[in-house]
Amino acid sequence: MALGGLPGFRDFFPSDMRLRSHILDGWRRVAERYGFEEYDGPPLEPLDLYVRKSGEEIVGQLYRFTDQGGREVALRPEMTPTFARMVGARAAGLPKPIRWYSTPQLFRYERPQKGRLREHFQLNMDIVGEPGELADAEMIAAAIDVLREFGLGEADIVARVSDRRLMGAVLDEFGVAEDSLAAVFAVIDRLDREDEAVLRDRLDAAGVPQAAADRIFEFAADPDPSLSACVEAGDGGPELRDAADRLSRVLGHLDATGLGGFVRFDPTLVRGLAYYTGTVFEVWDRAGEFRAICGGGRYDDLLAAVGGPDLPALGFGMGDVVLGELLIARGLEPEQLPAIQDFVVCVTPEQRPLGLQVAHWLRDSGRRVAYDFADRSVGRQFKVANQMGAERAIVVGPDEAADEAVLIRDLSSGEEARVPIGNLKPMND
Ligand code: HAM
Repeated sequence: MALGGLPGFRDFFPSDMRLRSHILDGWRRVAERYGFEEYDGPPLEPLDLYVRKSGEEIVGQLYRFTDQGGREVALRPEMTPTFARMVGARAAGLPKPIRWYSTPQLFRYERPQKGRLREHFQLNMDIVGEPGELADAEMIAAAIDVLREFGLGEADIVARVSDRRLMGAVLDEFGVAEDSLAAVFAVIDRLDREDEAVLRDRLDAAGVPQAAADRIFEFAADPDPSLSACVEAGDGGPELRDAADRLSRVLGHLDATGLGGFVRFDPTLVRGLAYYTGTVFEVWDRAGEFRAICGGGRYDDLLAAVGGPDLPALGFGMGDVVLGELLIARGLEPEQLPAIQDFVVCVTPEQRPLGLQVAHWLRDSGRRVAYDFADRSVGRQFKVANQMGAERAIVVGPDEAADEAVLIRDLSSGEEARVPIGNLKPMND
């Protein structure tokens, strides 16, 4: 009987690891170019950390259990609560702003489908201790630059940006009560993913009057929303004006960076998670064929809420699943490099010691090298060298050994050259 893995969990065969490593390496390069330092936390956390902070959708998807010591625990479904907890513990002694990144594997019990699995890797980049909107622009720019690193351009991706308070002020004006806001944001977050009838039922359950629900759907239907139209639709309060001013400055900074073409204002973007307080953004493929590649925003109250200092914070998470699908669809996956460059061929078992020395020297000088573990025929060894995709065969035979030389054959052109073995010694030996 074949032993299958769990649904929504991936086996990474070598050919799959290539894409995963390509993505994780690219994430690291760009995060470090932005001056972020790497951190990590435990994959298992107290359940309470998420129940209080993440919002209903994620809490419903937790892998949770009671451990053998009777503790209620959960596998991390997202990194932000752990990040808030860790930064909270050290923040007093750290120079601000803090810029940290991580690439954890996360676990959510979702229905496995295109772009959604039960585990994924997620780049998290977060800044703590900076209230100014240059930091908001920096995070959005970083998310875009990460995607540019993989070859995606303006034609491929778009960053939808808003400030949660804008939609909050609009909903206030429509007559949605303050204490229904979180539930209504969760509905708005699903506008393009779920049937209107289902969403109307949810709005009804959240206590939203039908007239307000009608206005929400009408507002969300505007194909080209502007910041000024949003301000007009809103309640005119100071929060709304502050949000609009901030957002126009964020958009201005992004223009100055040269990334303006990647960015679009979209007031219906509110994000499903409970802790965002201001700027929110998501990056999508422009054609809209895939799920969100990345999402984040400002969460100025979360650190204090997990018992840490009252410091502003913001950041984003980018998953490897949708990104990987998009790279494959656009032909941007990394090319397959052969596992080895050189294959050392021993003509008879007597040359084995010399073969081992040559192989070791080549490895010391940075080449990827393999050789046959059994004493098989020369023809067979060449066959394996070709199968493994080697560029060169390094032939060690009795004639060559007598001359303290090896024969190097270029396996694609067939050209051969006799080379003194001393030439293969690493330079610093
Ligand atoms: P999120 O929107 O839940 O945000 O996830 C961010 C990204 O992770 C998504 O856009 C998606 O690419 C990927 N992702 C999420 N769930 C799955 C899944 N089940 N399968 C595959 N990919 C998935 C957060 O997690 C926030 N904590 C991000 C953040 C960091 N906000 C501030 N700092």
